Amino acid sequence: MTARRLFFALALPEPLRQNIIAWRADAFPISAGRPVVCANLHLTLAFLGDTSPGQEKALRQAATRLTQPCFSLQFDDCGHWPRSGVIWLGMRRAPRELLQLAGWLRAQAARQGCYQSPLPFHPHVTLLRQANEAVALPPAAPGWLAQAVSFGLYASEFDKGRPRYKLLDSWPLQRTCRQPAD
Ligand code: 2AM
Repeated sequence: MTARRLFFALALPEPLRQNIIAWRADAFPISAGRPVVCANLHLTLAFLGDTSPGQEKALRQAATRLTQPCFSLQFDDCGHWPRSGVIWLGMRRAPRELLQLAGWLRAQAARQGCYQSPLPFHPHVTLLRQANEAVALPPAAPGWLAQAVSFGLYASEFDKGRPRYKLLDSWPLQRTCRQPAD
C-alpha cells in the first residue's frame, strides 16, 4: 500500500451542513469564491499529509487509546484568509476540549513524523475556496450548536477531478459533554 493523504476531523451532522449551505448562499455573493460541497464540510483537527501505511497504523492505534470527553461547539464566527483564499466558519471561543483533542492528535502526528504547521490551530470549517479578493463578511454567523461525540480519520482523494473526503475510521469521545460557557 502506498502513502495516502490523511487528516483527522470532526464531521458535521447533515442538518447542520444543510443549514450552513443555505446561509452561505445568502451571506456571500457568487463571486466570493468556490463553495465547498455540502458533503465535504468538516472541521480538521490534525492534517497528516501523505501518510505511509506504518504511520497510519500507529496513528490509528493512538486514536484508539485516546480518552477525551465529548463537547459542544457553537459556530458563531466567520472570517476570510485572503492569502490562502479561504472563507471560513468558526467560533469566537473554541472549547477547551476541542483544543485539547486537536493538540493531542497533532502531537501524535508529529511524533509519527507527519509535519505539523507551527501556526496556532484555528478551528474552522472551510466554506469557500479561491476567495482571494476582498469580500464583505456578515457581522456574525448564526451560532449553530453542534455536539462533538466522535472524531474520524479521513482520506483526501480526487474523484473526477474533485476532492472527496472518505471516512476511513472513527472513534467515540467520552460521554460527559460540557455545554459552552456563556
Ligand atoms: P482547509 O479547509 O483550511 O484548506 C483536507 O484537505 C483538510 O485538511 C482541509 O480541511 C484542509 O484545510 C486541511 N489541510 C489541507 N492542507 C493542509 C495543510 N498543509 N496544513 C493544514 N491543514 C491542511
